[in-house]
Amino acid sequence: MAGFPGICWFRRNPGSLENLRSSEIIDVPFVQALVKFRLLGKLASFACWPHFWKSTAFLEISMTIATILPSSPGKLPISDYKPLGNEELSARISAGREKLGKKLLILGHHYQQDDVIEHADLRGDSYQLSQLAASSGECRTIIFCGVHFMAETADILANSAARLAERNGERVNVILPDMAAGCSMADMAAIRQVEAAWDQLGEVIDTEKLIPVTYINSAATLKAFCGRHGGIVCTSSNAAAVIEWAFKRGNRVFFFPDQHLGRNTSLKMGIVNAEMPVWDPYADDLGGNTEDAIRASRVVLWKGHCSVHQMFRAEHVHQFRERHPGIKILVHPECPQEVNDLADISGSTSKIMKTVEAAEPGTKWAIGTELHLVNRLKKDHPDQEIHFLSPVVCMCATMYRIDLAHLAWCIENLIAGSVVNEIEVEPEIAKYSMIALERMLEVK
Ligand code: 13P
Ligand code: SF4
Repeated sequence: MAGFPGICWFRRNPGSLENLRSSEIIDVPFVQALVKFRLLGKLASFACWPHFWKSTAFLEISMTIATILPSSPGKLPISDYKPLGNEELSARISAGREKLGKKLLILGHHYQQDDVIEHADLRGDSYQLSQLAASSGECRTIIFCGVHFMAETADILANSAARLAERNGERVNVILPDMAAGCSMADMAAIRQVEAAWDQLGEVIDTEKLIPVTYINSAATLKAFCGRHGGIVCTSSNAAAVIEWAFKRGNRVFFFPDQHLGRNTSLKMGIVNAEMPVWDPYADDLGGNTEDAIRASRVVLWKGHCSVHQMFRAEHVHQFRERHPGIKILVHPECPQEVNDLADISGSTSKIMKTVEAAEPGTKWAIGTELHLVNRLKKDHPDQEIHFLSPVVCMCATMYRIDLAHLAWCIENLIAGSVVNEIEVEPEIAKYSMIALERMLEVK
């Protein structure tokens, strides 16, 4: 089971099943990815490391499974699009985009598959995509090729009170092409758990001086919690600056939901592990900590992680260094500390891309982030030697839910006058989330 953390997580978090129907279980990315695995197995990331073919009895796949929200039917059914070939779908998407012109903006995260990202007007990491949504100009619809928390954030930013006033109250509709595109990490912290943790912490330490920081990979309710309690949102590209911001306003940080980003960033700022207790929301008392540990804390880390990035291991780094002298290790800060500490460079998806773009021909890299991005870098930089850091297929299966069929379906429904899969955050939650997001956008 070690190779199927998505499934393990699913079993530990039965609450996430609330919205699932049995037919949708069959439709979850895990099953689809198993089918696609035969193709993925051919990818160069394995070919470049053939001994793993021989030594691994069961090749493993690391994937995400997240809460699936109900999809809207739309005037035109999705079932009409699923049998179509990529060429036809691509042509229909391009024709639809032309018809809608500047009223439609397609945003794409770097982890999207190539066929989809080619149709994005703008691409970026989470921080850049938030900035783009906040300054969304003439568009009246954003189709977000990413995951649910990104679309929620885009809705909050594009429809803030200030932006609505500029457009005389006209809203920007934000669409997530497939409602199954969630984020298992975001699902690891529910608002009632965070509120319960806050109350328990308040029995031991002064929460007036505890600053909540939520990674952008979280539900809008958690962002609103941060807005209400003097806190802030961070992304992988500004986490250090955000934690510094927090320490100017309090003496402790409560960081959720990704323990790895919180730990890796804080370690670089001189905070030590003994000052960073991990809060387990399923533990009976104080998140599994003693009162002394909480009193001695500087950063309380939520016990959450990314199922994709946690599969990168220290032994992968050692093996690459042994077999490819001079190779540079480049990872995302969602990787565990053991990997982050050994890496040459750690940063957001944009930083990973910029680092490779700026490197000399012949540079050797082993990259620890989502498979689609690494394969795109390999394709775009044939002059460099790029390897995938793990023998495990680490793909964000929820990002992978966004395909050409769903994109064409959204666009053609839009033309037919129906907005499908609209993501609309409740006004009260949006208002307080906006406070925490505005602080994030001010911190570079
Ligand atoms: P970036 O903000 O670095 O693009 O990361 C988003 C993400 O979900 C990584 O897992
Ligand atoms: Fe969430 Fe991990 Fe996928 Fe990023 S890669 S969207 S953190 S599951």
